[in-house]
Amino acid sequence: MNTPDASTPVALKADDIVKSFGTNRILDRVSLSVARGEVVCILGPSGSGKSTLLRCLNWLAPPDEGAVWLGNERLGVRDAGDGRVHSRPEREIRRQRSRIGMVFQSFNLWPHMTVLENVMEGLLSVKRLARLEAGDLAVEALRQVGLGHKHTAYPASLSGGQQQRVGIARTLAMAPEVILFDEPTSALDPELVGEVLAVMRGLAAQQTTMIVVTHEIGFAKEVADRVVFMDAGRIVEQGPPAQIFEAPSSDRLRQFLSRFTQASARTPAAGTADAPGAADTFKHFNA
Ligand SMILES: Nc1ncnc2c1ncn2[C@@H]1O[C@H](COP(=O)(O)OP(=O)(O)OP(=O)(O)O)[C@@H](O)[C@H]1O
Ligand SMILES: [Mg+2]
Repeated sequence: MNTPDASTPVALKADDIVKSFGTNRILDRVSLSVARGEVVCILGPSGSGKSTLLRCLNWLAPPDEGAVWLGNERLGVRDAGDGRVHSRPEREIRRQRSRIGMVFQSFNLWPHMTVLENVMEGLLSVKRLARLEAGDLAVEALRQVGLGHKHTAYPASLSGGQQQRVGIARTLAMAPEVILFDEPTSALDPELVGEVLAVMRGLAAQQTTMIVVTHEIGFAKEVADRVVFMDAGRIVEQGPPAQIFEAPSSDRLRQFLSRFTQASARTPAAGTADAPGAADTFKHFNA
């Protein structure tokens, strides 16, 4: 764990975010500050706004109110100096967004490109690096996820776990300041979950700043510095894993966790350290 102290610089910060779709208020004054090197896991029932929060944090879904800060820089808007803010041009937003990595549930690899080309793509098109330099960075990123031997493979020939590791390598190669993961293992067969979590564990050990929406309780317990529990568009409770899992203070979190415990009791753990079983995930037991 990379528990930050008060002197650790902030990597990403959301202040009082509000986001609505139509008349539905999906995020209701959410504030979250993540220190450099910190690993924050976000839990919560389906529809509680977890993905929407991540999308606000990288400006894919600009919030209606509130601010997001990437280090000392305001995301998406610029201070006009007269107390008002102006939208940044799209080009600037893209540049800012390239400093925030995003790993989704679906891997979205280009099927017609090799693994190496997939990882190089953002380096060439967004960072505009020369091919040689992009290639070197991509090779290193693939080594980090244990796929140094798959450069010339096409995505279709890889397992889901390997494809997600390519997705992570693609993000790592861009050297982002923070990586947002949105249920990175939810689309995988249970036996492939472990290899992806192992890569993520390795990143955490290297002080990578990570915000991880996950249903993998075992991972959150072991790797998170802080666990955030969301419900109905708000952060209901947050704290170190021991506090959240062993001494939850809100009824809503207790209820949420008890559903998981009951589900585990009905489904004896079938997993191994490498392939977590039903008891380690409560994906299917969301409210
Ligand atoms: N683009 C959109 N347009 C309209 N409604 C949306 C949009 N995106 C999300 N929502 C709604 O916002 C709410 C929160 O969705 P969100 O995807 O953030 O939840 P979540 O916590 O990530 O859920 P899950 O665990 O199922 O992924 C849901 O009611 C969803 O239908
Ligand atoms: Mg979601």
